[in-house]
Amino acid sequence: MSAQIIDGKALAAAVKQEAAAEVAALKAQGVAPCLAVILVGEDPASQVYVRGKINDCAECGILSRSIRLPATATQAELLAQVAALAADDTVHGILVQLPLPAQIDERAVIDAIPPQKDVDGFSPVNVGRLQAGEPCFQPCTPAGCIRMIESTGTNIAGKHAVVIGRSNIVGKPAAMLLLAQNATVTVCHSKTQNLAQLCAGADILVAAVGRAGFVTGDMVKPGAVVIDVGINRGADGKLHGDVDFAAAAQKAGWITPVPGGVGPMTRAMLMHNTVLAARRAAGL
Ligand code: GUN
Repeated sequence: MSAQIIDGKALAAAVKQEAAAEVAALKAQGVAPCLAVILVGEDPASQVYVRGKINDCAECGILSRSIRLPATATQAELLAQVAALAADDTVHGILVQLPLPAQIDERAVIDAIPPQKDVDGFSPVNVGRLQAGEPCFQPCTPAGCIRMIESTGTNIAGKHAVVIGRSNIVGKPAAMLLLAQNATVTVCHSKTQNLAQLCAGADILVAAVGRAGFVTGDMVKPGAVVIDVGINRGADGKLHGDVDFAAAAQKAGWITPVPGGVGPMTRAMLMHNTVLAARRAAGL
């Protein structure tokens, strides 16, 4: 293996430490940052994620509220919860864990979160601000990816960045953030022709496909920075990334592991955004 590992856990710990210090400073000024997390249903992966977020809050000194609704909850019930949290001045961030059960319109719920409390960065106002290059809440996963790329000392400006995946949560905002750093950005997806060839030309490769081992060694440019956003549960019960790690690590300059890469950074960036929301709400 020639690649250096980007240690997501260590980077996340540093981001959380920074957040904790800011929380302490805010508390000294009478502001107690608070994140509300709503989970609808019993999806095992979502339960794990939500538990992790609540634990992170405790670690950073951020207050948290965990709201659980049954899988049978109606859209009106969920919207009523969001409205109550939106009106509550002691709550600074609202996160509705996705995906939602089929009877609920995800878009309507995201639209109901006030932009100033939208710590996921999914609301139309934050999406628009990101696109326009204005101050906003950056979606946690791509924001974490950028931090990880920066941690390698790579100057993103002028580099060819290839993002595989065009989801609203990762692919599209990752492309916007890379563009904001003056990368030349290519977004690949299921209809892309010559995908392997495009990836092989990438100085920075962000894989957010949702398919284990999708990125093979021949798709990695020697020396590239490879960011693996995939979290795929294998038949072996283990977590696998979108990248064939062993093969890619032979060629990459830097690579993120799964687990211990993007996942911890995503959670840390949520803490960062929550502190930011509290600070902005207080006008500090
Ligand atoms: N489900 C998977 N990733 C995310 C995320 O970043 N935010 C929310 N709210 N739900 C998710």
